[in-house]
Amino acid sequence: MSADVVADHYNKVKQTGIQDRKESRIFFMRNMNNWIKSQLINDAMKLVNENNVRNPRVLDIACGKGGDLRKWDISGAKHVVMADVADVSVQQAEERYKQMHKYPDNIFGAQFIVADCTKENLESRIESKEPFDLVSCQFAMHYSFVDEESARQFIKNAVGMLKPGGVFIGTLPDADRIVWAVRNGEGGKFSNDVCKITYENVEELSNGNRPPLFGAKFHFSLDEQVNCPEFLAYFPLVKLLLEEQDMELVFVRNFAEAITNWLEPGRRLLESMKGLETFPNHNLSGKSDDEYLEAKAKIETLGENVPKYVGTLSKSEWEAICMYLVFEFRKKKTPAAEGETDAPEAKKLASVDQESEKKSKDIEEKQNPEEEVHHQNQS
Ligand SMILES: C[S@@+](CC[C@H](N)C(=O)[O-])C[C@H]1O[C@@H](n2cnc3c(N)ncnc32)[C@H](O)[C@@H]1O
Repeated sequence: MSADVVADHYNKVKQTGIQDRKESRIFFMRNMNNWIKSQLINDAMKLVNENNVRNPRVLDIACGKGGDLRKWDISGAKHVVMADVADVSVQQAEERYKQMHKYPDNIFGAQFIVADCTKENLESRIESKEPFDLVSCQFAMHYSFVDEESARQFIKNAVGMLKPGGVFIGTLPDADRIVWAVRNGEGGKFSNDVCKITYENVEELSNGNRPPLFGAKFHFSLDEQVNCPEFLAYFPLVKLLLEEQDMELVFVRNFAEAITNWLEPGRRLLESMKGLETFPNHNLSGKSDDEYLEAKAKIETLGENVPKYVGTLSKSEWEAICMYLVFEFRKKKTPAAEGETDAPEAKKLASVDQESEKKSKDIEEKQNPEEEVHHQNQS
């Protein structure tokens, strides 16, 4: 699949107004996703501050329509490079940035670049050669896992210009979770009220086979909006490719775990960003009763003088949220010496491949992984 298909798809996605967003079936899930990104940026800023940097230079790779511009302003960014393959999206991001200038004029500097980050060398397009303190890639890196060369080029573009001690954060579909869901669905499909996931070549998953490391194509539609084809990015492989670029893993968490982890420190922000739906209310997003069974059960446990409502997400939105993971890496302060990184590339990939095969068997035997984390977000 060429990046033109991806660009064409994202260019056609309508920019939605506040009213449209409020009426969306996944209003709360979208807000929750945005809250997770805000928490992730806050977390990354702590590491950036440890490097004695208050106002970071940021790369937002695959920035889309600039949905994170406001977050960069809040984080105190000094300069942000926004790059994406979809030209219309980049224009919209730039327009949004200009609108932000109308308010306080101490907003960060920015450069907007249209580039296929799986093919081009991004560095040659960036005006300043000063390295980045922070790189963010939200909901996008997996597109590059169409083949090995594209994934490697994308990763090089993402972290190649990071300074030692610099931070790389992102969100990705959780390959293990998606494989589990489609294996347990019918004919390579998983669906609920808000999302539908189809694995393209079901044969690849039959008889306990594991998907290929690159080119494992699936389709993910959310709220009936069909997405362009995506590719599984198996996390141990992501980690391996990043380690080759002198990156060390700080953490990786499924969204469910991340929410649990950030719930207490981020509760007020989550409330103000409307990341949870109040149950009960007269206009619930989910229309069937079984979308809120857990919330109902929780209310029954509340004591006499406690208000009888909880913040929750409908079951379908929660299932969709559990399809993603969040990660943070940091660049080594001293790069590995030439030859120090042991096995040749082909050998290392083969070991990830074996690991994925074993994992694939484990997943097959596993019960619903969601039950382990289901609705821990209720507050
Ligand atoms: C789901 S959107 C996420 C946008 C943004 N990061 C956000 O969180 O709102 C995925 C983005 O990845 C971009 N993308 C996909 N393949 C790309 C490539 N090869 N080079 C640059 N951007 C790419 C798409 O154009 C799209 O804007």
